[in-house]
Amino acid sequence: MTKEQAMKVLEEHNQTHVMRGFDDLTSSQQETLLNQIADLQWDDIALAGNQTEIPLGEITPIEGMDVEEIDAKRDEFAKIGYDAIKEGKVAALLLAGGMGTRLGFDKPKGELNVGIDNTLYIFQCLINNLMDVTNVAGKTVPLYIMTSEKNNDETIRFFEEQNYFGYPKEDVAFFVQEMAAAVDYDGKLLMEEPGRLATSPNGNGGWFSSLQKAGLLEDVHKRGVEWINIFAVDNVLQRICDPAFIGATIASGKVSGSKVVRKVDPYEKMGVMCLEDGKPSVVEYYELSEDMAEATNADGKLTYAYGVILNYIFRVDKLEEIVEKHLPVHVVEKKIPYITAEGENVKPTEPNGYKFETLVVDMIRLMDDNLPFEVVREKEFAPIKNLHGVDSLDSARELLKANGVEL
Ligand code: UTP
Repeated sequence: MTKEQAMKVLEEHNQTHVMRGFDDLTSSQQETLLNQIADLQWDDIALAGNQTEIPLGEITPIEGMDVEEIDAKRDEFAKIGYDAIKEGKVAALLLAGGMGTRLGFDKPKGELNVGIDNTLYIFQCLINNLMDVTNVAGKTVPLYIMTSEKNNDETIRFFEEQNYFGYPKEDVAFFVQEMAAAVDYDGKLLMEEPGRLATSPNGNGGWFSSLQKAGLLEDVHKRGVEWINIFAVDNVLQRICDPAFIGATIASGKVSGSKVVRKVDPYEKMGVMCLEDGKPSVVEYYELSEDMAEATNADGKLTYAYGVILNYIFRVDKLEEIVEKHLPVHVVEKKIPYITAEGENVKPTEPNGYKFETLVVDMIRLMDDNLPFEVVREKEFAPIKNLHGVDSLDSARELLKANGVEL
């Protein structure tokens, strides 16, 4: 894109301020900025401040597998899962591209030390959890790690420094997710530094297309992987490539599965699995009507009980089928560091604008079916979103200790 083309498109969208000082930039800075402008998603930017809620379809309960049912068949499921792992059909994929702004930690979230007397980084915890399975299987699984432009180099440096926490390096591949520009509350593009738009990772929904763009889908095929288990960076208790979960999903004949925990109260703030117009879907807690939130089955249990914990398994051929499908863009209020017109750096302490994200939960809607697989919350759910309080480093430490992890 030339300077003239950039000016034209910026004029059309009332954003010419981003070209201020353009002539004073080095030629490589100019090129970077022109590339950023060429990549701008104007339809998304237009949503800032005007996003209309997408109406929900008809919501009905989804059939899942509860802990009792799983326990009764756990060995049978685990055998199917271990066989799939041994045959090289399963890969793990860590979503580690987020900014972790709530935690306020200036490094990639996975570098947070959850240990007290010992050192136990989040990344290390996750690798340990994965190796609990691969050691029994006698076979490692490919581990794909999604980072962002902001944390990729540091994440790789850290894994190198820590010798991949004992996991075979040849089975680990990093890839970078795409970025999206951020705007202020007036919809104006923010600048991160002179000649550079403020950008942030574009949400966890684009993981499969980013994997594909990075050329790693070829690796998936070359290795004969049929199932990918994706998981969030911040749940230090989660079981990864859990053989019973994999086995139950395969045995069900479904194309995807979700680890879920039973909500502790009808209004707990978590996304809930359901069917929407007959397809699997996740509705946010605030989208459920009071009647639905409080509805119970004949056994007294909540009808919409299964909260998702960002640990899903997908069949690769189904992912390839849906990869071109458009995911809705969510406009999220965030704290976005920027420079003012006068060149002053601002690090906001309160949200000051919008980011644009696609979400993995929206991929669930594109699946033909999905198996909600219930796990015991106290054993598998310890997310670290904040330093203190709910879903925090403090609460995760307590849960790790309760599960016998030495801190
Ligand atoms: P969160 O929704 O908690 O977002 O991510 P976050 O960016 O890490 O944290 P906050 O909201 O700024 O405090 C859930 C999971 O999705 C990953 C995160 O790394 C985490 O594993 N994620 C999130 C990405 O990989 N990319 C993104 O763009 C966003």
